[in-house]
Amino acid sequence: MEVVIVPDAKAGGELIAEAMAALLRRKPDALLGVATGSTPLPVYEALARKVRAGEVDASRARVCQLDEYVGLPAGHPESYRATVLREVVEPLGLPEASFMGPDGSAEDLPAACEGYDRALAEAGGVDLQLLGIGTDGHIGFNEPCSSLASRTRIKTLTQQTRVDNARFFDGDLEQVPHHVITQGIGTILDARHLVLLATGEGKAEAVAQTVEGPLSALVPASALQLHRHATVVVDEAAASKLKLADYFRHTYANKPSWQGL
Ligand code: GLP
Repeated sequence: MEVVIVPDAKAGGELIAEAMAALLRRKPDALLGVATGSTPLPVYEALARKVRAGEVDASRARVCQLDEYVGLPAGHPESYRATVLREVVEPLGLPEASFMGPDGSAEDLPAACEGYDRALAEAGGVDLQLLGIGTDGHIGFNEPCSSLASRTRIKTLTQQTRVDNARFFDGDLEQVPHHVITQGIGTILDARHLVLLATGEGKAEAVAQTVEGPLSALVPASALQLHRHATVVVDEAAASKLKLADYFRHTYANKPSWQGL
């Protein structure tokens, strides 16, 4: 696992946006897996800036979503579909047709889950999957004790995750759905390159468990240890509990191999 420690969230955003830009220069119709939450916003802002500045042509890029709430009315501004369209697809100037995500309002949810895994495979697989991390170590919405081989399916959120996400629903816990559809850990591991971004002290414990802890269903993000090309980008605060921080600084700080530099 490559662990790149950056000074702050903005630098992390810039670094990952450059990795996405490099991918798009190499493969203009790359399938970019995106994540929701506050953490990845600097990535999307930096990538949109590069597109506006003509540093990269993203017009053929395709975007896919990690997860979705179940039961929010269509078009709800906090549905992940609406969020990704607003934060990623529109700023990149992409058509809505370039975007794919699981349907959280489908009548037959298990069929929608299976259909999403199939659609990802038919699209040629995800080239680069950006991930955030929950304070309990979840990726996507794979809560602790998710099967490390899981595929896209329905999950029940933990109370901790609902409390964490209540800020997107006017702080009203009652409004946060209990159920979600999420790419499974096995689905996520199918992506060619996984890039996890974590910033802030609140993520330090989860990051340490992910990078240095045992592979464990209790920390779903530790499944990244099984991937042949996983990069973890952390700011100093999120890196503060890493025992090997100095080694990571020495090895990856100036010349992360994953950038192909
Ligand atoms: C949600 C999303 C995750 C995201 C996590 C952390 O649970 N399903 O994909 O990583 O929130 O969000 P934040 O980056 O806002 O801390």
